[in-house]
Amino acid sequence: MQQEQQEIPIYAALLKHLAGGYAHLHVPAHRQGQALPSFWKQSGQEIFKMDLTELPGLDNLHQPGGAIARAQALAAELYGAERTFFLVNGTTAGLQALLMALCRPGEKLVVPRDSHRSILAGLVLSGADPVYIMPSMIAEFGIPGGTKAESTAHVLERNDTVRGVLAVYPNYYGVSAGLEDLARLVHQAGKPLVIDEAHGAHFPFHPRLPKGALACGADAAVQSMHKMGGSLTQSSLLHLRGDRLNTGLVASALALLQTSSPSYLLLLSLDLARHQMAVGGRNLLDRSMEMAYEVREALSQIPGLRVLTEQHLSAGHALDPTRITISGAGLGLTGYRLAGLLAEKHGVQVEMADFYNVVAVISIGTTFDDCRKFIRGLKEIARLFARPGKRLPVFPEPLPIPAKRMTPRQAWFSDTRKVPLACCTGLISAEWVAAHPPGIPVICPGEEFTPEIVEYFQLLKGSGAFVIGTADGMLETVKVVDR
Ligand SMILES: Cc1ncc(COP(=O)(O)O)c(C=O)c1O
Repeated sequence: MQQEQQEIPIYAALLKHLAGGYAHLHVPAHRQGQALPSFWKQSGQEIFKMDLTELPGLDNLHQPGGAIARAQALAAELYGAERTFFLVNGTTAGLQALLMALCRPGEKLVVPRDSHRSILAGLVLSGADPVYIMPSMIAEFGIPGGTKAESTAHVLERNDTVRGVLAVYPNYYGVSAGLEDLARLVHQAGKPLVIDEAHGAHFPFHPRLPKGALACGADAAVQSMHKMGGSLTQSSLLHLRGDRLNTGLVASALALLQTSSPSYLLLLSLDLARHQMAVGGRNLLDRSMEMAYEVREALSQIPGLRVLTEQHLSAGHALDPTRITISGAGLGLTGYRLAGLLAEKHGVQVEMADFYNVVAVISIGTTFDDCRKFIRGLKEIARLFARPGKRLPVFPEPLPIPAKRMTPRQAWFSDTRKVPLACCTGLISAEWVAAHPPGIPVICPGEEFTPEIVEYFQLLKGSGAFVIGTADGMLETVKVVDR
């Protein structure tokens, strides 16, 4: 055996991370077991005996008739759904199944331009023809602030053949755009409304959180139970309500997309998390809420930091208080640098960083000690970096959505070639290119490069913004459809 086969790199990386002894202000909500139902802690070796898949006597995820069916029915009852599917490949699989159930190749779907990449991939899988809606921006934080119902109304008036509307609720920053108005107008147009509720599995369990998507009238919602609901990573829920969606088609699409060997540990973790939320969700969230408001109050007193609150949102939009977006721009620090300093100097891991902000999550597993470390770290950073007049660069406004020449699927399956950025005007993109900030795609597969897009990318190069989605992160070349 070669010496290098002694290495177990993933194990080594995890041990190193654990040895860091970090405060955890991020998902999964159970926070390294802190908020896992007691079964997990008591089960010892039994857990490994339960690492099973579909054996006789157990149930079948793709055709449930026993324990899985019962567990799904209980989850449906708790969340106010008519049918709930357990997912073992995250919200990603659930959203992709919904897109495939809604649209045949070429059929139109209304989609927010700042959708998660699982939805962008779902467009390729389904062949749906996206009608994108640009979100509004929260300029002070340089982040998307949700799509307005009026923008969807406008799109629906001009596109009566759309098969449905997809919305993200809440977005990554906890911004929850007025969903009841949206549901009303989408239903008036006779279409289904499906929701990416990846970050909202906890919403129905506390009155100070925004209302859950189904309670707002959505026809379908997919939730990452693993993010905010206390189950294990990769386990999610897909809920259906009403008769605007074809349940059989959703089930078939899930069978197509998900593994044929679903892990009983993931399924069990969904069942346990549902039970925990049903019997104790309110108490657990009371505690999260108390911590969240304490942290918010403490951070609002730190000079140089700015915290996103409901006052920054458009009328009718709500904010999840347990998701804390903090801008260090007043200290001249990017979000990336702030997150780096928190981790390296103060032993605090946050959920996400973008150019201007960090996002911290106070979950049912967060401890008061985590919060104290976080506040202490930020106070210290603000003290060290306070320099009056320091500023971060301001990036140009997002460009208008370019003309579409083919669907994302057609572009994905076309022959492609790489061309220098300077030569791509008039060519059709074969990839998504999003600039951070603000993280909204500038161009999507099937759309045509304009001189303005080329100029915008030239401007961004070397500005400190960074580009994602493209094969060439330096943006010297872009991938286009070869025809
Ligand atoms: C808005 C949004 N939608 C969907 C997903 C995909 O969820 P999952 O990781 O459960 O597949 C994510 C993941 O971060 C997300 O942020």
